[in-house]
Amino acid sequence: MMHHIYHEGKEGKPVLLLLHGTGGTEHDLLPIADMIDPEASILSVRGNVSENGMPRFFKRLREGVFDIEDLKFRTKELNEFIDEAANKYQFDRSNVIAIGYSNGANIAGSLLFHYKDALKAAILHHPMVPLRDHDLPDLTDTKVFIGAGENDPICPASETTDLTELLNAAGANVTTKWYNRGHQLIKEEVNDAKQWYSAL
Ligand code: MLT
Repeated sequence: MMHHIYHEGKEGKPVLLLLHGTGGTEHDLLPIADMIDPEASILSVRGNVSENGMPRFFKRLREGVFDIEDLKFRTKELNEFIDEAANKYQFDRSNVIAIGYSNGANIAGSLLFHYKDALKAAILHHPMVPLRDHDLPDLTDTKVFIGAGENDPICPASETTDLTELLNAAGANVTTKWYNRGHQLIKEEVNDAKQWYSAL
């Protein structure tokens, strides 16, 4: 089991899988989930890796350079954790929608890159390409919202355009929105994600 919070929502509503950024906790994205869908169930997870005390979802060698072996291991661990949580809390495993920010968006992207049915949909705030030279599963019917900053020092614009192309090429239905900002998550972006979510 991973450290997490689970709140049961209204019957038939999706489970929002919340994945925080570097140095965050399972509490960080609760207000965002409440804005997106206050009736949804919540599975909010704390990353299992500690970088000098800062929780993350996988190791990195340095800023923007990922430890790919660890990324693969942690992606599998998270996917299995969602399976276990679905059993424990009796939610519909096929109705899980990720909301990730930064490092959390990157592990959500990695779930999409590795497992066909891990997520029904995903909201990725400021993601990067989790790994390159990798065959993606068939992602037909998977919907993805990507929010990106035009001046994001952590996440160059090419990461966003490459990620959009790779997911599209795998059959996913991707909506990418740009903001004249950096790496921070702004209200306008969450509002756009909410609008996108409402149309799912
Ligand atoms: C990562 O390491 O996943 C990215 O650089 C984003 C972050 O700093 O969390």
